[in-house]
Amino acid sequence: MTERTTPRHQRLLVTGGAGFIGSCFVRDLLARRDGSRVVVLDKLTYAGNRANLAPVYADPEQAARLEFVVGDIADAAVVGPLVARSDAVVNFAAESHVDRSILDPEAFLRTDVLGVHVLLEACRLEQERARRGEREAAPRFLQVSTDEVYGSVETGESREDDRLEPRSPYSSAKAAGELLARSYFVTYGLDVVITRGSNTYGPYHHPEKLIPLFLTNAIDDQPLPLYGDGLQRRDWLYVADHAGAIGHVLEHGVSGEIYNVPGGNERTNRTVVAALLERLGKPWSLVRRVQDRPGHDRRYAMDGSRLAALGWRNRTTFEAGLAETVDWFRDNEAWWRPIKSGEWNDYYDRQYRARLAGSTADAGPGVPAPAVPTPRPASPGSSGEGA
Ligand code: NAD
Ligand code: TYD
Repeated sequence: MTERTTPRHQRLLVTGGAGFIGSCFVRDLLARRDGSRVVVLDKLTYAGNRANLAPVYADPEQAARLEFVVGDIADAAVVGPLVARSDAVVNFAAESHVDRSILDPEAFLRTDVLGVHVLLEACRLEQERARRGEREAAPRFLQVSTDEVYGSVETGESREDDRLEPRSPYSSAKAAGELLARSYFVTYGLDVVITRGSNTYGPYHHPEKLIPLFLTNAIDDQPLPLYGDGLQRRDWLYVADHAGAIGHVLEHGVSGEIYNVPGGNERTNRTVVAALLERLGKPWSLVRRVQDRPGHDRRYAMDGSRLAALGWRNRTTFEAGLAETVDWFRDNEAWWRPIKSGEWNDYYDRQYRARLAGSTADAGPGVPAPAVPTPRPASPGSSGEGA
């Protein structure tokens, strides 16, 4: 494994750059004004939104260094020419929501596995061209993965060499995608690095996820559907820290290596909801206890020493990041109200109508009484500890 020196003015292909974390990466990179040029390739699914790049378009110097291509990472005809003019590919593109993967797994396989394969093949072709002297170097490929590939971690912290035990269609597809990426390093010597980030939050977060869903519902005094007993634990990572860590690994990561990106802020869902309600000045009585997610992972937690040894430190405390996020959603209704319309209503209905109809009131943020029963896990082999 060798350290890679990165060209100062990179030409980056950023897939999924209109999504939550990808757009933060693009905004922060272009705001550095270091001459880097970015091509965003994004399919603009329900989760993609050009408005996430509005600060770039509002600045002519930055806008001139951004090219936006609407397209699918699983489409080799689109991907090939874009990879051919890139020094590096950062793959954020994915179907990313666990609940949607339980409702409709297939799109997850297409994008999170086959899409990764198409990107890797395009990089391999460029590696061949580099070997023939037709370009300076092969592109670096950074696969953005997730702590969910480790599965539910009851105690301790996952390290990069731990066994992968994904338990949802989403995390299984992400595990397959990153395994494929690593296989291209091992088999073809492609320059691949992988990051595994923890639960990310911040401005521009799609309202289907816990924090923005509860924030936007609470602003409208709508019920907040808390799954099971609400004592599941997540490690929260502020979006600019996640994007920064990915940039750091892109520049300094050792080829073939995997880097955990923890937030260092492990909280139960109840604690998170209590904190956001307090900041918003809304009552706990909005919280409804609803039927749990099937196969719900109880806890994620990662050891971050490998990334720390590479020189990366997160900058944002959970308290500061959450305050920023709450205020952003309160001040940017024009961003999230259009997202909560159209296709959103069908999804919300499928995911929450029956749950909310069978919901119960919750006494308060503390440890609850026995929860609403957990549904049977979808697959016979899953232990789905639920609530
Ligand atoms: P997101 O759902 O907000 O954005 C995904 C983006 O990818 C959207 O812009 C979407 O239009 C685009 N996309 C989807 N399918 C595509 C395709 N076939 N071709 C091109 N573009 C496509 O997701 P996010 O939260 O920003 O996550 C980004 C990446 O980070 C994902 O790979 C996800 O697995 C990973 N991740 C997310 C978190 C988190 O908490 N959000 C944590 C760890 C890792
Ligand atoms: P989510 O934001 O979907 O992220 P992930 O499942 O990838 O961790 O969910 C975070 C936690 O919040 C998870 O334990 C599920 C829970 N949750 C609810 O209780 N209610 C909800 O409506 C949602 C979307 C999530």
